[in-house]
Order: sequence, then C-alpha cells, then structure tokens
Amino acid sequence: MAAPSVLILGATGFIGAPLSRLLKNEHPDWSVTAYVRSVKGATEDALKATLGGVDHLEVGDFSEFDKIKHLSAQHDIVINSGNSATAEPVAAIIAGLRERKAHGSKGKLIHISGAGNFIDFGTSGNFNPSSKVWNDDNEDDIKHINNDMFNGRSDVAVLEAGATGDIDTYIACPSVVYGGSSTGSSGVGVGYSLITGNAKSLGYVPYAGDGTAILSTTHVSDLVDFLVTITNRAAAPQEAEGTAYSRYYLLETGRVQWKALATEFARVLHREDPTAFPASTPRNVTHEEAGEGALRYLITSNMLLEGPRARRAGFEPKGKSILEQMSDDLKGMFI
Ligand SMILES: NC(=O)c1ccc[n+]([C@@H]2O[C@H](COP(=O)([O-])OP(=O)(O)OC[C@H]3O[C@@H](n4cnc5c(N)ncnc54)[C@H](OP(=O)(O)O)[C@@H]3O)[C@@H](O)[C@H]2O)c1
Ligand SMILES: *[C@@H]1O[C@H](CO)[C@@H](O)[C@H](O)[C@H]1NC(C)=O
Repeated sequence: MAAPSVLILGATGFIGAPLSRLLKNEHPDWSVTAYVRSVKGATEDALKATLGGVDHLEVGDFSEFDKIKHLSAQHDIVINSGNSATAEPVAAIIAGLRERKAHGSKGKLIHISGAGNFIDFGTSGNFNPSSKVWNDDNEDDIKHINNDMFNGRSDVAVLEAGATGDIDTYIACPSVVYGGSSTGSSGVGVGYSLITGNAKSLGYVPYAGDGTAILSTTHVSDLVDFLVTITNRAAAPQEAEGTAYSRYYLLETGRVQWKALATEFARVLHREDPTAFPASTPRNVTHEEAGEGALRYLITSNMLLEGPRARRAGFEPKGKSILEQMSDDLKGMFI
C-alpha cells in the first residue's frame, strides 16, 4: 500500500482525537477521514485542524449501517475507536471492508475493545489469587471471548470476520483508560465516566472488603502509540501474520488496588464538586452498596490480564500511573 486511506470512527473521542492527531502527525501523506456525529458548532476546517489535519469529515451516526458500510468499502484501513459495547457499528464496517475483496484488495480493521470483558465477577473486593489471568499469548483465552462479556458482541463479530480471512483484523484491548490531561482531552472517556457516574449516583466513592482487588489501567498515550504501531503494520504490504485470535492485544500500563484508587477518586471528586461528593474519603461498602447492576461488579472484582503478545508487537507502557494522573485528568471536568 503506498499511502493508504484510513477511516476513523469515534475520531472526536477521548481515544480517537489523540489517535487522529498522532496518525496525521506521523503520516501527513495518508488520507484520513474522520466519521463524526456533528461538527459541534465549529467550522469543518476548525474541526479538521483539531483532529490533526484530517483530510475529510463525514457526518453520521453509528446507527447508519449503509453509510458506514459504503465508507468502509472506500478505505484501506478502518479504525473503530468509537464503540465496543454493541455489535454496531462494527458489523457495518466489516460488511464494507468485505466488499474490497471483489476488487482484489483486502480490507483492514483495527478495533478497540475493553478489558471489562475480563473481570472475575468477584463480590468481596479482595484480591483473589486463584482468579484467571487472561493472557494474549494464549489463543484459547481469546477464543473464550463471548457475547455475554461487556464488549463481547463486537469482539466476536470482529474475530469471526478475521477468522474467515476475508479481512485482516486487529483488536487492541486496553483496560480502564486515563491520562487525558496529557493529551489535552476535553472529556474523560468511558472508563472514568463509568466510575465517577456511579459514585455520583451513590453520593460516595465505594470500595469493598479490604480493597485489595486489582484494577488494570492503560495510559491513553501508551494506547494511542500502540494503535499507530498496529496501523503501520496493517498498512504494510505483507499479509497479516497468524490467526485473528493471535492479533488480539491486551494492553496495561499499570495495576492499582481498589482501595488506593477509591481514596484518590474521593479526594479529587470532593475537591471538584463538594456538593455531589460531600466526603473526601471513600466508603467501605458491601457488593450490594457498590453500585448499580454490572458496575458493582467492576468495583468489587479483579481485572487480571497480561499482554506479552502486545509487548512483542510494540506496546511500550511508559505513562505515569492513574494515581499520579487523576488529579489533573479530572480537573475542571464536572463544571
Ligand atoms: N475510556 C476507557 O476507559 C476505555 C477503556 C476500554 C475501552 N474503551 C473503548 O474505546 C472506545 C472509545 O472510548 P472513549 O473513552 O474514547 O469514548 P468517548 O470519549 O465517549 O468517545 C466516543 C466517540 O464516539 C463518538 N460517538 C459516540 N456515539 C456515537 C454515535 N451514536 N454516532 C456517532 N459517533 C458517536 C463520539 O462522538 P462525540 O464526540 O460526538 O460524542 C466520540 O467521538 C469505546 O469503544 C470504549 O468502549 C474505552
Ligand atoms: C471493610 O469492611 C469489611 C466488612 O466489615 C471488613 O472486613 C474490612 O476489613 C473493611 N476494610 C477495611 C480496609 O477497613
């Protein structure tokens, strides 16, 4: 591929915006199209500049199957940094990229999933030494991903499409992503939103048991660097190596215990909004008091993963820890 064309879904997001900027910065000659929900009150030119000088904007919603399919068929590489919780829009991307086969060029899909898939559903809030540690070097682990997991339906759709060989697929699976203050993000992303939203509806920041349960975290700069590395690989003329299950990358910058995490959340959220968060310290609660539905599992369980395959493919975690970044990441985000 000489200078490939790339379509990015979710290009204005917490992950998508720094990704668009880094990709254009490294490859000014590549033709990059950002699929955006709206121009957001800016001019098209201003938004293109904000996204690193992307070449084209296409306005549309993730629910517009035909539009996404058509656009995907016209691009060499599609990056989905917008949605992993449902099978759309990735089904439309796959349908579009498959059409390229008839014209003798294989479509490439880079999908961003999330390690919420891999929590152990513990309810104690304690570290569990016998919990499964998911490992991206073990293709059987990746084959165990199923539709009941948080990001299962999109992962399964991508893995199955990749397994047919019709398209080359890559899945980057970060854990909770933080570090937006270092990329100038105007939002906090899905991970922080879930945790802070849960705390806000409870009126306190929860942790359970002795709070030694482990959460995996990924710095957005480490993630975005890796996404560009994978995109470079997808752009190379050679066929993708290995099976689709071997191109699933588990990403982690660091691990944190829930009590330490909740302690910093409580301090920072109280500083930011003392009305919504009257206490500056977290509350030790039962599983039932840790949140609504699936969220209470996130808070009381362990998320254990290892990514030796991602490391070999070029993932190089070097970001500061979430405990060091949170104060800056959440500053001014709730006014
Ligand atoms: N942040 C994390 O902790 C984390 C961790 C693991 C995995 N992930 C996954 O990474 C992906 C991106 O997460 P993020 O934190 O960057 O989220 P985000 O900041 O909310 O960004 C989502 C992006 O998708 C766009 N979008 C949302 N709904 C849309 C719709 N219906 N039609 C068109 N565009 C739409 C948003 O556009 P607007 O700018 O117009 O809203 C934005 O560009 C998600 O799939 C998420 O599950 C995130
Ligand atoms: C939290 O409460 C539980 C149950 O009462 C107790 O076993 C645990 O030691 C407490 N954790 C801390 C860190 O105080």
